[in-house]
Amino acid sequence: MNEDIIGKVLKKWFDSGKLTRDQIFLTTKLAPTHNKADAVEEQLKQSLAKLQLEYVDLYLIHHPCMFKVGETGAEIDGIVDYATLWKAMEDQVKAGRAKTIGVSNFAVRQIETILDTCKIKPACQQVELHLHMQQHGMVEYCKSNGICVVAYSSLGTPGAPVAVQKRNMKIEVPSLLTDEIVMKYAKKYSKTPAQILLRQIVQRGVAVIPKSTNEGRCKENFDIFNFSLNNDDIAELETLDKKSAGRIFNAAAMKGLADHPQNPYK
Ligand code: A2P
Repeated sequence: MNEDIIGKVLKKWFDSGKLTRDQIFLTTKLAPTHNKADAVEEQLKQSLAKLQLEYVDLYLIHHPCMFKVGETGAEIDGIVDYATLWKAMEDQVKAGRAKTIGVSNFAVRQIETILDTCKIKPACQQVELHLHMQQHGMVEYCKSNGICVVAYSSLGTPGAPVAVQKRNMKIEVPSLLTDEIVMKYAKKYSKTPAQILLRQIVQRGVAVIPKSTNEGRCKENFDIFNFSLNNDDIAELETLDKKSAGRIFNAAAMKGLADHPQNPYK
């Protein structure tokens, strides 16, 4: 929901000559209310109009399930046909509206369905990934298929309870930024807890996209390429993995997801 404002700011920067299109990598997503082949082209065109761009660098299917906006917020509705949806995504690459295409929140079995029929492979899988849910199996699978993994909620998404309140989602967030082991390494490496969390993920060959609305924290989150965690320290951090029990955006967070056949979390 930030395409309008991002578009305005980018235009200002491009017009001023401070930035050129090839210096940024811009990703946007197909909203899960529109997970149908015949909606994709129009949805991406609308995004491009708001972004004031000719193309996006990466276009993702936000979620493997179809959502509808019910009276009490988002709920799961219907069955998505991945083969025809993916073909419509591929058409966006052919038309030049997206340089690359990918998925988000998909289970391995759902990515396999796409790999079975695709002409253009997903470039990216964006998933919840943090110290409490390290996704080792998913990362291994994606790496072996040449799919780049991007981690969301890498800091444990501390702002989420407020952000999702209006959508009636019920989530609990972990306190990764104040975890004792994370704080111990922040002290040892003279870095902040956020930088330890991000560095641990980047060292696994996974990309991170921590969101911040604060200039100082944006800079802090980029400043992770001048140190390395050693193997013993990584091993201790990895002991914090709770596997799927550590998932923040679990099936209970969304009405109709738990028993749905396309629930990616089971
Ligand atoms: P803010 O926008 O005020 O910086 P995630 O990417 O895991 O969802 O986390 C995003 C949340 O984490 C936002 O609420 C953001 O708040 C906060 N955040 C981002 N970077 C940092 C940081 N370096 N230290 C502490 N909190 C941060």
